[in-house]
Amino acid sequence: MGKLNDKVVVVTGSVSAIPGYDSIGSATVREALAEGAAGVVISDINDELGEAFAKSLNEQYGTGRALYVHTDVREPKDVEKLFDITEKTYGRVDAVMANAGVATAEDFDKDPEAVLKSRKFIQSINEDGVFHTALYGSRLMIKHGTKGSIVLVSSIHGVVGRPKVVNPDTGDVLIDRFNAIQYTMGKHGVVGLSKALALQLAEYGIRVNTVNPGYIMTPCFRLRSMPIRASWQKRRRWQ
Ligand SMILES: NC(=O)c1ccc[n+]([C@@H]2O[C@H](COP(=O)([O-])OP(=O)(O)OC[C@H]3O[C@@H](n4cnc5c(N)ncnc54)[C@H](O)[C@@H]3O)[C@@H](O)[C@H]2O)c1
Repeated sequence: MGKLNDKVVVVTGSVSAIPGYDSIGSATVREALAEGAAGVVISDINDELGEAFAKSLNEQYGTGRALYVHTDVREPKDVEKLFDITEKTYGRVDAVMANAGVATAEDFDKDPEAVLKSRKFIQSINEDGVFHTALYGSRLMIKHGTKGSIVLVSSIHGVVGRPKVVNPDTGDVLIDRFNAIQYTMGKHGVVGLSKALALQLAEYGIRVNTVNPGYIMTPCFRLRSMPIRASWQKRRRWQ
């Protein structure tokens, strides 16, 4: 008997941009099905890979177990639609993971124009997107009296700022500046949202928790960081 038997799970940002390597969201979806989830809803803006991912999971676990829904978490209407489709397809939602996020960095002390330019973009995904997901996900749980679980994905930078990052094996400096200012600010906001929401939704029996991952070699790292990529390239692939 799996830990998620008969549960319906929605994960935002749950496509991997590099086939063969998982993101945190795609690995979670895979694990949910392996743990017996009745249905998983994969949501992302990467439609082609999202549809292909759902198809491959349905082939592996049985028709109807996985569904892809285009969702840009910046758009409240998209997120509302995500949970409408979830309700129509599976009848309810038991677990929601607000995972979609972007890793960003800026030289805060060098180019104010560039910092200001990235501000809205980061905030709209890493803060507003999580908020929209919690808002519409909890509404569907409340509607059906589901004593569900909401997980908001923050980061180690929801707790601390970013230090210089050094490869422990080689001593190579992988990230040499303390330049994840806006990312750190937003991820602290996610922790705050989780604390406030957990108290608010307790009366409905809905749990709200945050996860604060450390560095994980997902596509977002692989696509952005050549030095890190080089040091990790021998690590495990899924297939
Ligand atoms: N990888 C790490 O080391 C690490 C560490 C701490 C926290 N995190 C957090 O974990 C979460 C997942 O990170 P990851 O490393 O798997 O990243 P990833 O880039 O591999 O996956 C993120 C997914 O989010 C999707 N996405 C981006 N913008 C979106 C939008 N507007 N609407 C919907 N989907 C969108 C992308 O298409 C992608 O599929 C993020 O919130 C990230 O900040 C990652």
